[in-house]
Amino acid sequence: MISVTGKKPEKFKGDLLIYCTFQHKDKMPLCEESVKKIVKPAWKSGDFTAKPGETVLLYSDLLGHAAQPACPRILIVGLGARKDKVDEVREQLRLAGGTIAGAARKCKARKALVVLPQMKEIASEGKAEAMSEGLILGNYSFDHYKKEDKDRSVPVENFYLTGSDSAISLRQGAKRGRITALAACRARDMANEPGNVWTPEKFARFGKELGKKYAIKCRVIEKAAMKKLGMGGILAVNQGSASPPKLVILEYISNTKNPTLMLVGKGLTFDSGGVSLKPAAGMEDMKYDMCGGAAVITAMQAVGEEQPQHVNVIALVPTTDNMSGGAALKPGDIITHFGGKTSEIINTDAEGRLILADALAYGIKNYKPDAVVDLATLTGAVIIGLGHHKTGLLANNDSLAARLLAAGESTGEPFWRLPLGPEYSKQIESKVADIKNTGGRPAGTITAAAYLQEFVGEIPWAHCDIAGTAWGFTEKSYVPKGPSGIGTRTLVTLIRNWKPLKK
Ligand code: BES
Ligand code: MN
Ligand code: ZN
Repeated sequence: MISVTGKKPEKFKGDLLIYCTFQHKDKMPLCEESVKKIVKPAWKSGDFTAKPGETVLLYSDLLGHAAQPACPRILIVGLGARKDKVDEVREQLRLAGGTIAGAARKCKARKALVVLPQMKEIASEGKAEAMSEGLILGNYSFDHYKKEDKDRSVPVENFYLTGSDSAISLRQGAKRGRITALAACRARDMANEPGNVWTPEKFARFGKELGKKYAIKCRVIEKAAMKKLGMGGILAVNQGSASPPKLVILEYISNTKNPTLMLVGKGLTFDSGGVSLKPAAGMEDMKYDMCGGAAVITAMQAVGEEQPQHVNVIALVPTTDNMSGGAALKPGDIITHFGGKTSEIINTDAEGRLILADALAYGIKNYKPDAVVDLATLTGAVIIGLGHHKTGLLANNDSLAARLLAAGESTGEPFWRLPLGPEYSKQIESKVADIKNTGGRPAGTITAAAYLQEFVGEIPWAHCDIAGTAWGFTEKSYVPKGPSGIGTRTLVTLIRNWKPLKK
């Protein structure tokens, strides 16, 4: 769906030919010589200043024979002003890619060629990578359950990239971008599927498929084994459900001498709240409560594709729904997590931490990772604090936190760090058990993380609360309205750049 071509743009015979332009204060936008004839009148009339998201669509026939390219339509896209920070340039290109994909879909283009602009602030590979990500992410739609709808825009079949850069670099970049963007789109698909379709069973099946396709081992811990292992958290949350829980584990070992990064994702396929039932309004969105699991498992798809040689990656997805059947967990119940820690249940809707606690404790004991990162749609409180624009980041290790902040910056998935500390941990002290599962309203995101912290000991660990960003994420050309697929690309970036953490 993305390829690099050496063909001259004028010779391209597809449906849409795209050129990028930069805003240039209030002067004529900066663009390729060959499209000045189009850009100038558009700018002069005041219709186009090359702001991000602005476009001009023109029919080649109007250009007259001499200048006329073979492609019937030309699209001019605004990139905004030139930026100098590479992460900003990446985002600029992703946004342009998203805008292009949207415009191409609208005119039902099947084949579209993007002429990459010359830029000195970013290497050719990075340029092709960011543009490919924007194109693929922006071309995404989910209409699995919709009958034929004539007005619906159709995805573009093939995007082609060209530019004055070396084709080898463009190809490498496009490949990197394709791997992460397709993985993120897969995560969006999982989230879009309803709770009656995307079940724990499906998570297990997907894990096993990765195991077959790639140099990855998949293990699924079933309910009976959970009982033997004493995974009281996952089992407790599953008690009110009609279908069994799973703990899906993927192991990618490049070399036993390499550092091991462990990923854990909340795979709650539907969160009704359990006996502490959620209000009906908006409850349908709780099918998205598995987005952490989706991010982690699709990051493993990218790992399988790339087979990094410098790091081992273990992924764990504890998965169940949270229902209120007759046998359901009740407020006041006391459960025992993997490893023996007991917890008093105050609110059965604080279930994410219960399934994550077992997965964290089990994964750390079994795989002795060098660092752990978990992703979860864990608290409504993070939406109150950060809105839908930034993921909450909590960590017991500054270097690991810095790496996540940097990875988020370079993928357009920003984090904001919140503190941990004994004052917060005190809020989850219980009178009758080791801890309790809620810490009251104040600092809800932090006390949820403090609960997880009980299960990671001294291992460098970072927790990403994606409740605000997993869907309804900041409006962007390459982010659709529903699930954003957040986390996948950040995790892959973290893995690609992984180095042993300083002690
Ligand atoms: N899955 C929810 C968190 C959530 C809420 C995500 C809204 C996205 C939007 C989680 O399981 C939950 O219910 N958390 C409770 C915790 C509370 C009971 C301590 C919450 O945030 O209300
Ligand atoms: Mn809940
Ligand atoms: Zn939940």
